Amino acid sequence: METSRRTLVAGCAAAAFALTVGGTAFAQQAKEVKIGYALAVNSHYGAAANAWAETVEKGSSGAFKFKQFPSSALGGERELIESLQLGTVEAVIVSTGALSNFVPDVGVVDIPFLFRDTAHARAVLDGDFGRELLGKFQKRGLIALAWGEQGFRHLTNNKHPVAKPEDLKGLKIRVTENPVHITAFRTLGASPTPMSWPEVIGALQQGTIDGQENPISVIVSAKLWQVQKYLSLTAHVYAPMALIVSPAFWGTLNDPQKALFIQGAKAGAAASRRFVDAVEKKGVDEIRSHGTQVVTQVDTTAFRSALAPAYKQYAAKYGQKTLDQITAAQ
Ligand code: PAF
Repeated sequence: METSRRTLVAGCAAAAFALTVGGTAFAQQAKEVKIGYALAVNSHYGAAANAWAETVEKGSSGAFKFKQFPSSALGGERELIESLQLGTVEAVIVSTGALSNFVPDVGVVDIPFLFRDTAHARAVLDGDFGRELLGKFQKRGLIALAWGEQGFRHLTNNKHPVAKPEDLKGLKIRVTENPVHITAFRTLGASPTPMSWPEVIGALQQGTIDGQENPISVIVSAKLWQVQKYLSLTAHVYAPMALIVSPAFWGTLNDPQKALFIQGAKAGAAASRRFVDAVEKKGVDEIRSHGTQVVTQVDTTAFRSALAPAYKQYAAKYGQKTLDQITAAQ
């Protein structure tokens, strides 16, 4: 084929692709994608949302335009998930905090000390297990596209340093609305108080709760040193986040557009992991520099042993075989 014809054919193919992804050859108003999440734009959530938006906006030549609602502007995570099901918001990025109330199988990843380290968690969530788990959202009226990351959760409180399970006795610890976490903290002797994130800072200020637990990424983003005296590096559970779209919106997309949204969600997930890697390197020093006392020597073995009755309940609920499969994954 002579060069000019080859150029013409290639040009036509590119135009056809843009037409399918963009939906029309003529300039028209971009389709708005409202996306909600709990933290500020300059957090791991914002990093994920920005990468997702950029991939889709560029890849569709502007046929889609993301409109971001950070900092719980559309409500807590439970409300965000309900809005997806109702189709009043197109996309969200949420922790697994409230998710297992909608997709019960997700609760398995919330089991304390299930993942050895970040590499293990990422391998499981990026592998068959994580993919199958994403597939289970559909039956529950949600289209989950990728697993992003928050990091391992640690404990903060205002009463005293916590290094071993006995130190938790009687402490009122805010937990997410998550049955697995509630069971764990009750078993450890704390008084777990399920609460939506937008209420947490006020409750810590007023003293209606003594502490909370979240990854370094969240503690830094929310500047929890303003309301918490002690940080214990318990790393008691890995915290993923899910990038999800509403079925109503998904139904309006053609196949190339769906592929672009999946590509964008994966780019978002990767961006959140890069953000977490960076914040984990300097976050503890930053928290300490604001006057928080950091407990680095935590008796993790004692925490695991104290959780034995909870592990029995988790095995009964999710199946010992599933837990063993996750534990054995490399
Ligand atoms: O603790 C929570 O509820 C979540 O980790 C948060 C802070 C909303 C981030 O998703």
